[in-house]
Amino acid sequence: MCSNIQTVPQERADPREGAGLQERVGRDSESGISSGIGLSACRQLSSPVGSLHERYDTTRSVTQQLCHHLSPEDCLVQSMVDASPTKWHLAHSTWFFETLVLPKVDPHYRSYNEAFGFLFNSYYNALGARIDRPDRGLLSRPTLDEVRDYRRHVDDHMRDCFQEIEADPELVRLVETGINHEQQHQELILTDIKHVFASNPLLPAYTLRSDTLRSDGQHPISATSLSWRSYGGGLYETGHDRAASAYGHDRVAFAYDNESPRHKVYLNAFSVASRLITCEEYLEFMDDGGYERSELWLADGWDAVRQHGWSCPLYWRMCSGAWCVFGLCGDRPITPEEPVCHVSYYEADAFARWFSIRYPGARLLTESEWEIAACDHGICGNLLETGRFHPQPATFSADSAGFSEEFSGPAQLFGDCWEWTQSAYMPYPGFSSPPGALGEYNGKFMCNQMVLRGGSCVTPGSHIRQTYRNFFYPHVRWQFSGIRIGRQA
Ligand SMILES: [Fe+2]
Repeated sequence: MCSNIQTVPQERADPREGAGLQERVGRDSESGISSGIGLSACRQLSSPVGSLHERYDTTRSVTQQLCHHLSPEDCLVQSMVDASPTKWHLAHSTWFFETLVLPKVDPHYRSYNEAFGFLFNSYYNALGARIDRPDRGLLSRPTLDEVRDYRRHVDDHMRDCFQEIEADPELVRLVETGINHEQQHQELILTDIKHVFASNPLLPAYTLRSDTLRSDGQHPISATSLSWRSYGGGLYETGHDRAASAYGHDRVAFAYDNESPRHKVYLNAFSVASRLITCEEYLEFMDDGGYERSELWLADGWDAVRQHGWSCPLYWRMCSGAWCVFGLCGDRPITPEEPVCHVSYYEADAFARWFSIRYPGARLLTESEWEIAACDHGICGNLLETGRFHPQPATFSADSAGFSEEFSGPAQLFGDCWEWTQSAYMPYPGFSSPPGALGEYNGKFMCNQMVLRGGSCVTPGSHIRQTYRNFFYPHVRWQFSGIRIGRQA
């Protein structure tokens, strides 16, 4: 239930959801390699499945599955400063449990290897010195096998401790944070390996599974025409209500600290586009001189265009006179109906400015507007569990207004592409970072970054929710980031 506090009670559906990935169900018929995960149907997810122990095991297993068919060489490469090697992700997510959980539940626990704290600490100043981020790709040692041994070692100790953990709400909270942290790194493993493979002249595919083809092998249904859903102006409430969470119980309501406190926002009437912007629409922007017209760009964005020579989204290139896009399923011609992806905030903003010529008042949504549009939606979409790993056209069964019959609202709010908002990543009113190392998780990054909402095709379904705030610098393009347009009503 959305909370326009002028008209409805201050109550909303608990967005908590979760379904562990299904065990993989087959092998890729073309490549003979495992895709690592199976296909689950689109569905409304409720609360996390199983006990904390079971969810821990599932999460750890999924991470392994995602790396199943990567070679040790694949797992070592760091293709740019922002991305990390797969091996580092595998070790760092393990270090998180070893450092933040095990010593608290077992005072006699001894670290697996004292040097790993330096190698696999990411950015926690409270936890000591660490290797420089650009040097993560230099870690040929420990080997991938040794990192897998490290994971098994920590898993064995964690499994011995779950009875004590589940009896202590604070430990439950820590493990829940570790599970969600590992899910973030599942997404990063896929995001980063895509950049690794795109940097290789051989353009290897992570999986050859068909993505935008239907099960009958035909081209996907054309994207629906874009239409608008209107929302009234007024006073709303957004953000996660931490007081309503029930840590320490079977049905854990997890949210990061940066999603709280729940607070009031005043919104003018606004409209939300029925789906994400497609490649076809973005091509129109490009063909209309979008990358050459300074009047469409923020000053920093125009500087970025000139500095980096941007003329198209990341992973696009001309091949034999046509645009191709590289994805985790390899390099192939662009599907016009699929959402444009891997654009920076600057590109999203410039597109919106250009789009406003056609639709006066068009702009990016604020994060509050996005959350109000999403608050009645189930967590359903092209998320990691579909195994497609690539944005899909909006193929929902639409009514005449272009909206999903199931949710009677905008499509693709969850999955496909993270959606850039025009909101700076700032603390909500009353926010304060918790004490200790976990206080560094989110709060210290609240400067110079923009908020993205909704998850992508590589976000685990049990990780995303209506109040989830992702954040990246406005020039970043390697994330699965796309465009949804809003409009003044
Ligand atoms: Fe991390």
